[in-house]
Amino acid sequence: MAPLAISEARDETAGLAVRLERSVPIATDARLLEFASLQGPLPPATPGSHIDVHLPSGGLRQYSLVTPLCSATRYVIAVKREATGRGGSVWLHDEARVGAELLIGRPRNNFELDETAEQTVLLAAGIGITPIYAMFERLQQLGRPVRLHYWSRSAEHALFRERLERHPDATLIHSSGGRAVSASDVLKVAPPGAEIYCCGPSRMLDQCIASAPRPQHLHVERFANAAKDLGASEPQDGVTGFTVHLARKKRDIEVAAGETILNTLIAAGIDVAYSCEEGVCGACETTVLEGTPLHRDAVRSPEEHQQRKTFMICCSLSREKRLVLDI
Ligand code: FES
Repeated sequence: MAPLAISEARDETAGLAVRLERSVPIATDARLLEFASLQGPLPPATPGSHIDVHLPSGGLRQYSLVTPLCSATRYVIAVKREATGRGGSVWLHDEARVGAELLIGRPRNNFELDETAEQTVLLAAGIGITPIYAMFERLQQLGRPVRLHYWSRSAEHALFRERLERHPDATLIHSSGGRAVSASDVLKVAPPGAEIYCCGPSRMLDQCIASAPRPQHLHVERFANAAKDLGASEPQDGVTGFTVHLARKKRDIEVAAGETILNTLIAAGIDVAYSCEEGVCGACETTVLEGTPLHRDAVRSPEEHQQRKTFMICCSLSREKRLVLDI
């Protein structure tokens, strides 16, 4: 991989220039990657934050930060090798060499921890432990009551195992060990009023959403590709072309049937923020001034869509012929 020119990173939106300092196995098919800043202090990151990693192919991938291991000079991410994924994790596992220079995005947090909660229950499966582990360590540091439940395929697949295995506030559950307690079982006995955070595959999150006794206290974060799963329940069928009016630019843009708003705006030369292009990172969140969006993202809950009057232009569409956006 040719090193990226540091000058590319001076623009705030272009990202932060870093060097891969360390890449070590932490569990079966999982590595910890440590990036050192090449341009001064890194922005602070809170538990639940993620960053974009710019791949040499030009693609972007999002990874949660292991914030207990992060500092002003280094960021640490955990990456699971997804052999059948889109190639980002395979590149980071197999080809990214220590010393390589690359660009990462500034931390974003769509999965914020309420540090003042009376009780907190954390549920994680697989690589979903990364933001949940960050929350666990933060609450431990603050002395707040917290219970962690972590599902992994086997003991060898569990990240942060040495720290969590004997911790009195953590329960590790291995699916290879026979019939195991489910996320629904955990939620049934969660303390009333507890804030519940859950990160893992869609099936697990759907189970949590279906069985959460108090949905307003449930916070979930989905992996990439989850928005496509959600898209199946919010079909694009019947959505023909529509117009987006850009209020600040005083421009009308026609979005053709089957096209995304994001792609249409980029093609029209409009400079907008985006990252995952899959409705999972929140980078393209845009305020809707008039009209009714057809939400297809996995970042916000239906309640948040109502309250925030925003939508993700990379995947969401319009239920009407015209949308007015704060662009
Ligand atoms: S670019 Fe990630 S949600 Fe739209």
